[in-house]
Amino acid sequence: MYSEKVMDHFQHPRNMGEIEGASGVGTVGNAKCGDIMRIYLDIDENQIIQDVKFKTFGCGAAVATSSMATELVKGKHIKEAMQVTNKAVMEALDGLPPVKVHCSLLAEEAIHAALWDYAQKNGIEIDGLEKPK
Ligand code: FES
Ligand code: FES
Repeated sequence: MYSEKVMDHFQHPRNMGEIEGASGVGTVGNAKCGDIMRIYLDIDENQIIQDVKFKTFGCGAAVATSSMATELVKGKHIKEAMQVTNKAVMEALDGLPPVKVHCSLLAEEAIHAALWDYAQKNGIEIDGLEKPK
């Protein structure tokens, strides 16, 4: 049911943990299942994401998508990080079963929430970024 990449990221999650004094932190919950994901971003003065960590209290697909999403945004400019949608994360994982698609939304939402937190703290606006619900 799961691709090899999903199994790999589930069994060996990348960037799991937290960042003390992170530039931005975002926590989101999945209304469908009650699972929670938190993303920490460390962003430098050039708006490059130097480090990223995640904590996920959720299913295997949520862990795998968090892990892949952190890999996709690490080292990127915040504008590029905005392009990392749940679709991009799913493609990078070679797909998810249809019933697990909602899990991949958590990663996108958590990254956006962390970027929002960073933008608020620094008094900036990020194109296309909406206030988290
Ligand atoms: Fe919460 Fe998937 S239903 S783990
Ligand atoms: Fe809850 Fe996957 S995030 S079922």
